[in-house]
Amino acid sequence: MQKSVFVREMFAEIAPRYDRANRVLTAGVDERWRGRAIRELAAAPGSRILDLCCGTGDLTFGLVRRDPTLQVTGIDFCAPMLDAAHARAKKVASGADLRFVEGDVMALPFEDASFDGAIMGFSMRNVVDIVATLREARRALRPGARLVNLDVTRAPNPLFRRAFELYFYRIVPLVGGIVGGSKSAYRYLPSSLVNFPDADGLSERFGLAGFKDVRYLRMGVGAIAIHVGVA
Ligand SMILES: C[S@@+](CC[C@H](N)C(=O)[O-])C[C@H]1O[C@@H](n2cnc3c(N)ncnc32)[C@H](O)[C@@H]1O
Repeated sequence: MQKSVFVREMFAEIAPRYDRANRVLTAGVDERWRGRAIRELAAAPGSRILDLCCGTGDLTFGLVRRDPTLQVTGIDFCAPMLDAAHARAKKVASGADLRFVEGDVMALPFEDASFDGAIMGFSMRNVVDIVATLREARRALRPGARLVNLDVTRAPNPLFRRAFELYFYRIVPLVGGIVGGSKSAYRYLPSSLVNFPDADGLSERFGLAGFKDVRYLRMGVGAIAIHVGVA
């Protein structure tokens, strides 16, 4: 099966329990990582922000919680994840300027330079072509705008890396299978890290896609990386 079809179907299966599984699997710490990624974006009041692979909208809602003047567009190719985002929008962000679009981040349905900033959370591992995705994000950003990417990475310290691998490859499939409702999905998610570039490798790909001033910071004992690039 094509990777993108597999990924879409897998997220469709876990969509109804995705948020709860995330909170349980990270003991809520992912909120802190997301908050830091949002601060790195440093969006100016009233600016137009794109949340790439928005899923159920965790980063989208985090953005408007921090600054209700932002105009945020979330894009994702999995309709059940977007259904969950729409339901949350009605409950927690009814006055906010939000839009959710169904589409593929490798072929964004937006004009060039439509956004003042973009963010992507825990999704780069799932796309078929990282450089093509980054190029497409850069096209949709106005020159000088930032892209912030938050994702799991390989920790440099061997001890922490081993501990994280135990958690990621053993605990996540077990607990995710129970709380998230799909053993196979939570077996796939850790395996998606195997062929994913390390933090320096991802920086290089930002550069290949034309981003400037690329940097990253680590959190979560080095196993979480936040990359920032300027279009
Ligand atoms: C692990 S979830 C992350 C969701 C959200 N960003 C978060 O931080 O919770 C990955 C999301 O990426 C979406 N996705 C993966 N590849 C995609 C693509 N090529 N285009 C659009 N969405 C994609 C999936 O449908 C899924 O909702």
